Amino acid sequence: MAGISDEDIQKVRDASDLIAVVGERVPVKQKGRDFWCCCPLHQEKTPSFKMDPSTQLWHCFGCGEGGDVFAFVMKTEDLTFPEAVRRLAERAHIDIVESGGRAIPASQKARLKEICARTAEFYHTQLMRGRGAEADAARAYLAGRGFGGDVPRKWNLGFAPGRGALVRHLTQLGFKAADMIAANVALDGRGGPVRDRFYNRVMFPIFDVSGDCIAFGGRVIGTGEPKYLNSGETPLFHKSQVLYGLDHAKAAMASSGVAIVVEGYTDVIALHEAGIENAVATLGTALTMRHIRVLSRHASKRIVYLFDGDAAGQRAADRALAFIDRSMTPEAGRSQVELVAVTLPDNLDPAEFVAARGADALQALVDGAKPLLEYGIDRR
Ligand code: UTP
Ligand code: MN
Repeated sequence: MAGISDEDIQKVRDASDLIAVVGERVPVKQKGRDFWCCCPLHQEKTPSFKMDPSTQLWHCFGCGEGGDVFAFVMKTEDLTFPEAVRRLAERAHIDIVESGGRAIPASQKARLKEICARTAEFYHTQLMRGRGAEADAARAYLAGRGFGGDVPRKWNLGFAPGRGALVRHLTQLGFKAADMIAANVALDGRGGPVRDRFYNRVMFPIFDVSGDCIAFGGRVIGTGEPKYLNSGETPLFHKSQVLYGLDHAKAAMASSGVAIVVEGYTDVIALHEAGIENAVATLGTALTMRHIRVLSRHASKRIVYLFDGDAAGQRAADRALAFIDRSMTPEAGRSQVELVAVTLPDNLDPAEFVAARGADALQALVDGAKPLLEYGIDRR
């Protein structure tokens, strides 16, 4: 990757107070001169993670890890050093100049990522400030579902106006039609000009584990078919291994040791907003072994699969059971993470359940989830 100058690294370091950065992740307490918290790198109930505000260094007496603010971000977010610097630069709103950097990145994957990032930004601006009845309807729709306030910003929600608006925007930024098509945000015009793929939909950008946008899910506003239109497979996006919300959920997964898997984008957002921050969703697919492998890197104890209470949720449960029998391989055995499941009552999905009965009731269900196999036997 292109190099970041020492000067820029220093600028970012100066703007990234260790205690503030850690405090955005886990609760921090001052004891005397130092600050302490429970270590986000392993599970613990009493704080053994110490931060020294004057040296800006940390050390965990539990797991022995330590370092500076960059090391903290690298270890907790599984990033390389330059990635950690970029992450903290974004946080501090510092523009870093990368030597050898170009306006349009050279490798195809990097260009597609850039397109996804610019697309998410464009859709978000349309949602926040777009004019016209359709943008108004998108805002009203989200607000009506309890996704007003801070939610669109936090999840980078958007509105796709369609009618070539995105293609025009990306063209102005210098992107080529072939790359827009490869990123699956535009479609080949079959003789005519390339077209926007998403048209009059509320947009849920899909981020990878380090927070880069790699795909989109678009929901129809109100009723219509298909309810969700999602990005197809692209060089960036492989649906069978991506979990929606993982970038937001991984810290809570690491500290609790537990991952909650639901079916819908909206379920993830509703659970996080209710304070259940270790929830992620599959993207309209069954849970795969790759998902489990990804999750077990963040949640070391349990993966809880929450099935919707409707017929579709029951079909998902059946698919998961079929899969789980097949996945009883030595490799799955070695990963040690416990797979449990629970079906929501009364035809509810997780978003509806927390809205009706609250986060504590959902947490109680999660705590009472049964091993997937046992669950299968009970259900028959
Ligand atoms: P649901 O139908 O349960 O949607 O599908 P939802 O998330 O609860 O959405 P709301 O609350 O009605 O808006 C669960 C997931 O299945 C995929 C999506 O990933 C969705 O989040 N799905 C569903 C599709 O890909 N296409 C569809 O047409 C419907
Ligand atoms: Mn649902």
